[in-house]
Amino acid sequence: MWDPAVYRRYGNERSRPFFDLVARVGAESPRAVVDLGCGSGELTGTLAERWPRARVSGIDSSPEMIAKAGAGDFRVGDIADWQPGPDTDVVITNAALQWVPGHQRMLRSWADALPPGGWLAMQVPGNFAAPSHRLLREVAGEFGVGHVAREAPVDDPADYAALLAGTRVDAWETTYLHLLPVDGADHPVLRWMEGTALRPVRAALDPAAWADFRAELGGRLAEAYPAGHGHVAFPFRRIFVVASI
Ligand SMILES: C[S@@+](CC[C@H](N)C(=O)[O-])C[C@H]1O[C@@H](n2cnc3c(N)ncnc32)[C@H](O)[C@@H]1O
Repeated sequence: MWDPAVYRRYGNERSRPFFDLVARVGAESPRAVVDLGCGSGELTGTLAERWPRARVSGIDSSPEMIAKAGAGDFRVGDIADWQPGPDTDVVITNAALQWVPGHQRMLRSWADALPPGGWLAMQVPGNFAAPSHRLLREVAGEFGVGHVAREAPVDDPADYAALLAGTRVDAWETTYLHLLPVDGADHPVLRWMEGTALRPVRAALDPAAWADFRAELGGRLAEAYPAGHGHVAFPFRRIFVVASI
């Protein structure tokens, strides 16, 4: 289950890649624009500001997220079941495809289905080898839930570029350095991860085991990401791909 309030804890840091991604989309007057895995829809709203004449819609599999979305064309749905309509000119998907097994095959089929002049833009985290995720897998294994901590559900930019051969591809990676303030008892990287990567672990543990897991992972994160000058430096690699048809 997604908790919109927990996910929004680091809203500024999480929204920046969305704007960096959309800035590389050159569509001028698209007919329909879709945001796949739109979450609670705030960022989808900025697409309507950029393309005021477009029909902008958002799809997300979480009813909790969609319930928080304001006015607009938002619906609960699975990315895996989605296909572009005949007037879909722009597909945006930000920080969602890492949750969708087989998304590479879907990207290829969307690129094949988009009309000439169409755009496909995606961003996924590329930090599965970072200490945060290595420690998550380590502690999850010790708590008997290693199977829910995924190794590396995404590819490198060059792999996505090869996958989308035949389109004009702009693929890159950026490592953001988030300076997370130390403002509570919990380590800030633990608080960050609770909004996303820790959700499956939490769902797999009973409340007492989850409290122990949290304390154990928090201690190891504090060693890997020490606090200094009132914050913790948290490097976060992200992978971007924009294809125009
Ligand atoms: C990290 S949030 C990103 C939300 C939003 N795109 C943003 O940038 O703030 C990931 C979202 O993907 C959604 N999601 C995960 N798997 C999905 C699927 N198979 N179909 C639709 N949405 C999915 C989740 O419900 C969640 O809202």
